[in-house]
Amino acid sequence: MGKDNRVVLKVKSIGENVSLVRMVAGGFLYPYDLTFEVLDEIKIALSEAVSNCMIHGYGEAEDQEVIVTLEVQDRQLTMQVEDTGVGIADIAQAMEPAFSTREEHMGLGFVFMQTFMDQIEVISAPGRGTTVVMHKLLPATEQQIDEVG
Ligand SMILES: Nc1ncnc2c1ncn2[C@@H]1O[C@H](COP(=O)(O)OP(=O)(O)OP(=O)(O)O)[C@@H](O)[C@H]1O
Ligand SMILES: [Mg+2]
Repeated sequence: MGKDNRVVLKVKSIGENVSLVRMVAGGFLYPYDLTFEVLDEIKIALSEAVSNCMIHGYGEAEDQEVIVTLEVQDRQLTMQVEDTGVGIADIAQAMEPAFSTREEHMGLGFVFMQTFMDQIEVISAPGRGTTVVMHKLLPATEQQIDEVG
């Protein structure tokens, strides 16, 4: 069934910690009986947000921190990903599909976050870091629907 829960992770800004955060999210979400597909989509949205902090927020500096908060309340999932890096001057432009400030990047991170989550909010200002808050109502499995009737 899955009780309401909340965890806060503060990780060093090294690439290895993107996969660590994914693994923690997998464990955190395990009790909620999600399909493999939904679980994977949530993990993709989360890792896109975390890697953005490391690549763009901190310019790949490895001595910084990213704070990730995962919370479920009444099957409403909230994931907050926060850095104290360079920030974003034009948030609307940054969220446009295929917009990237880096030549070698596709500019699809925000597209994945918006596609796989119900709603996302971006709070950012130059020099003040970036916070991304993502929401998704965790779908009930067929088994849970059967139990309710
Ligand atoms: N945490 C952040 N700090 C500063 N800038 C950011 C942050 N997250 C995103 N951005 C800006 O928003 C742009 C778009 O982000 P998005 O994740 O959609 O694409 P990308 O990271 O450039 O490419 P991809 O995710 O496909 O590798 C980035 O190129 C960057 O300029
Ligand atoms: Mg990205």
